Amino acid sequence: MVIGKTLKKIDPTTLQIWKDLGQEAEKQTGQSLVEQFANDPDRVNRFSLDFKEMHIDYSKNRIDAAVMEGLFQLAAETKLQDGISKMFAGHEINETEGRAVLHVALRAPRSANMNIEGHNIMHDVHAVLDQMESFVDRLNDGWKGFSGKKITDVVNIGIGGSDLGPVMVVEALRPYQEEGRKVHFVSNIDGSHIAQTLKELDQETTLFIIASKTFTTIETMTNAHTARSWFLEKGEEADIRKHFVAVSTNIDAVESFGIDSNNAFEFWDWVGGRYSLSSAIGLSIMVAVGSHYFREMLDGMNAMDEHFRSAEMENNMPVILALLGIWYANFMDASSEAVLPYDQNLQYLATYLQQASMESNGKMIDRAGKPVTYQTGSILWGGAGTNSQHSFFQLLHQGTHLIPCDFIIAANPTHTLTHHHDLLVANVLAQCEALMRGKSEAVVKQELELAGLPPEKIEQLASFKVFDGNRPSTMIMIKKLTPFNLGMLIALYEHKIFVQGYIWNIFSFDQFGVELGKQLAKAIEPEIKEASKPDRHDGSTNSLLTKFKSWKEY
Ligand code: F6P
Repeated sequence: MVIGKTLKKIDPTTLQIWKDLGQEAEKQTGQSLVEQFANDPDRVNRFSLDFKEMHIDYSKNRIDAAVMEGLFQLAAETKLQDGISKMFAGHEINETEGRAVLHVALRAPRSANMNIEGHNIMHDVHAVLDQMESFVDRLNDGWKGFSGKKITDVVNIGIGGSDLGPVMVVEALRPYQEEGRKVHFVSNIDGSHIAQTLKELDQETTLFIIASKTFTTIETMTNAHTARSWFLEKGEEADIRKHFVAVSTNIDAVESFGIDSNNAFEFWDWVGGRYSLSSAIGLSIMVAVGSHYFREMLDGMNAMDEHFRSAEMENNMPVILALLGIWYANFMDASSEAVLPYDQNLQYLATYLQQASMESNGKMIDRAGKPVTYQTGSILWGGAGTNSQHSFFQLLHQGTHLIPCDFIIAANPTHTLTHHHDLLVANVLAQCEALMRGKSEAVVKQELELAGLPPEKIEQLASFKVFDGNRPSTMIMIKKLTPFNLGMLIALYEHKIFVQGYIWNIFSFDQFGVELGKQLAKAIEPEIKEASKPDRHDGSTNSLLTKFKSWKEY
């Protein structure tokens, strides 16, 4: 490990600015957002940003100029700029795993110079991109299955970072997909996932992408072997190379599976699983939308990377989103945040961001190895509007939790049903207005009077119909959901997560928290087959195993 090249270890709570922000938080109860808008006609300009085809309006947050100044000072005093520079410089900032964190290199242009230990990695990055492109070209033209038929279905087998990003993007870019070939995703070790997928497929026309950084993940390897056995019901061992390709950092394991090394797409240990959709892990995306749109998405990511690297803090979109998250989590007692894209094609965005954010920042030990004394890693959740309005929005409007919301909307649809889009836009604007404005008891009573309700009924109902308002939201508007703008949106959140982890003084790029369950599952699996009564666990686990065995019919 190179001294001075790792991230600084600053406990943010030791800084005076942390305490000052605590005091600012107490003052915020004074003036409502509606009053702040009334008193400050420039508020929306002060608290909104534009970069290319992205507009972020964060003026409906419980902030004022003093709060933002304090948050920028927090970023400065924790030396955020130093952290950003170290990431882009390829330093070993994933200290616990001894790795650099350079997903930004995956979308940098060929001419860029990005180094790890003095080696410019851009040649390797673009060699794999070119290999992916030529594979997709061959798949479109020339590649034949073992019986001479064209490939009609591609199944990506992967889990976590080797699944969620591609699933989200393939859905998001559905309007850009080429007709003719279908891309499927299998991730769950639950056999129904692969069984239901294979039921509709034909061995002669199906190709599998086995996507796994480590090529050891139990879910992925189990599904891959099931797919292999299914394929061998019709094909021969020698045909495997025509129907299986792989994406991994573990090329030896890929070859032992029987996959032709020419069809193995490499990536590197400096790409974290949940930050890997712009690597070869995105092969299924490229298959779905073609290399042109895939590269456009990379360009969008690169544009946001450069903005993040170079824009001053006060105009830096990922930094501002991150600071708002810290403001709510650490000073306003909010423990969760909602991501609400008003776009059916972004229906998997929240699921994707859950891994990106919660696997990165769900940590209780700081970079000095000490337990943190403050909240880290907010609980991220959400869903597509308007469907979510008809499920959990009740709690957003009248519940007892403070939940800052990110609304996402494209100004233009990717379809021709413009009347639908007008209604969608009206709804997203109405929701954040409603969250902020609320509805007072006086207005409720007036409305009920106008509706002709008798006074006693009005008294009985009024309090239930009050909205206290002053509930914060941020609007992220893009001109259209293009591959470029989607790329910007993804990188926006990636960097938001980085900034939060950095300021929280935790390591965002390891995930030891997922290991214990895996270890225990390994121990339990053989016990399922044993005839003896389970007795190696606690009372509950032993009893559940016993119950399961008594009911098991297979
Ligand atoms: O859930 C843990 C994890 O290691 C994730 O970080 C990762 O994205 C996923 O498993 C899949 O890992 P792999 O790509 O190595 O199969």
